[in-house]
Amino acid sequence: MQSPDIRYSHLIGAARRAHLQPRDPDPMRRRFIGVDKEVPLFGGDARTYVNLDNAATTPAFLEVVESVNKFLEWYASVHRGTGAKAYVSTHCYEACRGVVRDFVGANADHHETIFTAGVTDSINRLAATLGRDGRPLVLVSGMEHHSNILPWRRHARVEWINVGDDGLLDLNHMEEQLRRYSGQVRLVAVTGASNVTGLVPPVHRIARMAHEHGADVLMDAAQLAGHRPINMRAPDDPERIDFIVMSAHKMYAPFGGGALIGPRAAFEGEPAFPGGGTVELVTPDRVVWAEPPGRDEPGTPNAIGAVALARACRLLNEIGMPHVAEKSEELRAYAVAALADIPGIRMYGTAAPDDWKHVGVISFESDRMPHGLMAAVLGHEWGIGVRHGCFCAHPYLMGLLKVDASQAQRYVAQAEAHDHSSFPGLVRISLGLYNTHEEVDYAAKAVRRVLDEGPRARYFEDRKTGDYIPLDGAGQLDDCFCP
Ligand SMILES: Cc1ncc(COP(=O)(O)O)c(C=O)c1O
Repeated sequence: MQSPDIRYSHLIGAARRAHLQPRDPDPMRRRFIGVDKEVPLFGGDARTYVNLDNAATTPAFLEVVESVNKFLEWYASVHRGTGAKAYVSTHCYEACRGVVRDFVGANADHHETIFTAGVTDSINRLAATLGRDGRPLVLVSGMEHHSNILPWRRHARVEWINVGDDGLLDLNHMEEQLRRYSGQVRLVAVTGASNVTGLVPPVHRIARMAHEHGADVLMDAAQLAGHRPINMRAPDDPERIDFIVMSAHKMYAPFGGGALIGPRAAFEGEPAFPGGGTVELVTPDRVVWAEPPGRDEPGTPNAIGAVALARACRLLNEIGMPHVAEKSEELRAYAVAALADIPGIRMYGTAAPDDWKHVGVISFESDRMPHGLMAAVLGHEWGIGVRHGCFCAHPYLMGLLKVDASQAQRYVAQAEAHDHSSFPGLVRISLGLYNTHEEVDYAAKAVRRVLDEGPRARYFEDRKTGDYIPLDGAGQLDDCFCP
């Protein structure tokens, strides 16, 4: 196979000649890997990729990769070996727990930090753990990602908290639900920041309400942790957050790590997922479980993932989470203003009361072009990475788009036939620490031009996925990288 640089050298040369993208002077940008990657475009040009899909996953901090590379020299089995490398790996893995715990303001005496494969894995484990002895009642917010819905449906009885037309969780309805089921609700499951609208609910207010009715609170910090400071608060604080889950790949550390943090007492029973490492002793008919957190980390630990996550936490703290939050808010406001200028663009969830905030996630649509086609044209013809569709948050999105029950039924029938054509959805741009005003300006210009002039290439809609595929040149990326 030709190296991508040879195969696309004529395109890259064209991009250089055309000076399609001014070099970015922002020193923050240089801390991330791959943000200046050139990609081929329809028509033979190339340009620096503009990644506006950070809500899906983020590029790596260079320093995270350097840290992982250094650790790889020491890499060996965690909790299972006696050699020097096993000792260093184990020591390092355990030290990472403390870093992650401090990043979210958890308490060493009260909380356990369990390493997982990310938010989906964390919530599945928590749901299986809390659902071990029967099906507890869980109030699930209507703003959630499927990862904070489906595990609860499997292991608990779910009641919903409604969302208003403005995309905001209806806290009056939450209070009604808590009163209706007072004393019975085990947990309120709520997002720290929506992956659809970027809305950040007032989680400490929500926690106070939940605690007044004897319920704990789980905050899904998948979208929050890379954008805003998190503080679980003291274990006796009425506004404390009881459980937090996070994914390292959304915090500039894409090495498969994640964490579930919660009160030690919740993890003291039989582990939901037993296996190697979760025990002190096994006989043919007896088992003595290990102490938490080992009891809830079955299998060989992902030490690389833990190192990467801990390094990312340290780096974000060094940059300063208040500064990260300020930058995230500023860039988002800039992007909202740029998109608002484009005729026919409708954004969702952009307005919020004072005690709500936003992270840099903006979803929009236009009656002039299907969301899938818009995303395809931005990618194929403009070198911009966005996402389109329902963003793994179907209930929230269908509510925002006012899909009624009979329409929803038709979509169910369509999905059962594996047909996703003309599904409802939005286009989402999501911003990271390294994105710039120039990139936002370029994306806004692209959206405007795409709507005014239409696509230059020809596309067909893949019924199975709802994605639009260019008829010419779709395969040009196939050889760009191969392990
Ligand atoms: C709000 C939210 N929760 C949960 C998840 C699932 O995270 P992961 O895929 O890392 O498990 C995502 C991923 O996009 C998300 O945005």
